[in-house]
Amino acid sequence: MRKLCSFFILILLSNTINIMAQDKAKILVLIHSDNGGTYELAKEISKGIESDKNAVSYIKLVKASQNPKLKDLPVATTDELSAYDGIAFGSPVYFGNISTGMSEFLSKTVQLWTDHALEGMPATVFMSAGSGAGKELALQAFWNSLAVHGMVLVSNGIRGTEELNKAIPQGNTVLGITSMASLKDVERPTKGERSIAELQGKNFAKIALALRGTRQKKSSVGSVEKTVSINETLQQKNIVLPQVPKPAGNYQPFVRSGNLVFINQVALQNGKILNAGKLGVDVNEQQVKEATKITMLNVLSVLKEAVGGDLNRVKQCVQLTGIFNTKDDYTKHADLMNIASDLAVEVFGEKGKHARATFGASSVPVNSSVEIQAIFEVD
Ligand SMILES: Cc1cc2nc3c(=O)[nH]c(=O)nc-3n(C[C@H](O)[C@H](O)[C@H](O)COP(=O)(O)O)c2cc1C
Repeated sequence: MRKLCSFFILILLSNTINIMAQDKAKILVLIHSDNGGTYELAKEISKGIESDKNAVSYIKLVKASQNPKLKDLPVATTDELSAYDGIAFGSPVYFGNISTGMSEFLSKTVQLWTDHALEGMPATVFMSAGSGAGKELALQAFWNSLAVHGMVLVSNGIRGTEELNKAIPQGNTVLGITSMASLKDVERPTKGERSIAELQGKNFAKIALALRGTRQKKSSVGSVEKTVSINETLQQKNIVLPQVPKPAGNYQPFVRSGNLVFINQVALQNGKILNAGKLGVDVNEQQVKEATKITMLNVLSVLKEAVGGDLNRVKQCVQLTGIFNTKDDYTKHADLMNIASDLAVEVFGEKGKHARATFGASSVPVNSSVEIQAIFEVD
């Protein structure tokens, strides 16, 4: 009885927490960063946003990064932008302008622009510079793009400058905070730059809350909840992705060409092939089905790496090909492959539906009973 009560209290608590999160202003801190300077400022901006108990922030990258400081951050899609209550944009200064990575991302927002999807949404900008040459030009260039979207640009004014140590160069500007990473007299961002970044986040949350609900959100676009849903789906369904298997030869776990990702996997589990051998000789159908599930989990784990850790960037499972180690007269390949297909749909919903081929082979590499070749379209 006590266990049952605790269970209901837990459900009630988790529902209450969900409702509370739904009520908060959702603010995206969207960055490009090469060396992590912009990310340092982003964390302060985010701290400032969340100092308001009615706001929550999500730091995301415009593109996946291999930098160890950044590689675990999720990557945003253009589709999700209009679902937020405000966006704080951060980028390195490139030649007195926004970075190429940020520029490439913004150039993919044409549909949002023609749909007026970001109109009236508050935006604020911050940048990491080297020496600081052209930093204000760069911030202004950021504003140009966001003004074309009709966003409400939130400046900093002289916020926080009273407290600033004026004996050293500082990245404060009236448009937004910057940091000058190549000036090594003190640690960068300086204490003052961090503090202004936090104030910028705090002020931005206030504006985002005030403007909340004044915009008509377009129904064609995603929601913030949707963007976090695939990781949640995995958790809810108890689907645990294994470590990415290491290549056994001169090839890559995946190759991305344009927006397509190509992956091939066998039934490796903890460095050994699960249920190895030929169907009907060494293993039965149930064992091959288990091997197929492990193989598809390996595919998903590699796919997660290919999208920088954020499976929400998968637009479509395009094709799965299942190759099974069978005798000549075997015909029920489709039943075996359904295990992989069902898993794709379980994880990605409609986006998991794919074209499919299956066939039997007289042998499969490393005596696996199955190999899966997969093609995914990603953002
Ligand atoms: C192509 C390129 C152009 C740059 N142009 C400028 C510039 O005009 N002014 C400046 O202060 N720093 C410039 N930098 C330096 C970066 O802005 C600086 O390294 C920044 O801190 C990088 O941010 P991150 O650590 O988030 O990658 C440039 C860097 C690159 C790669």
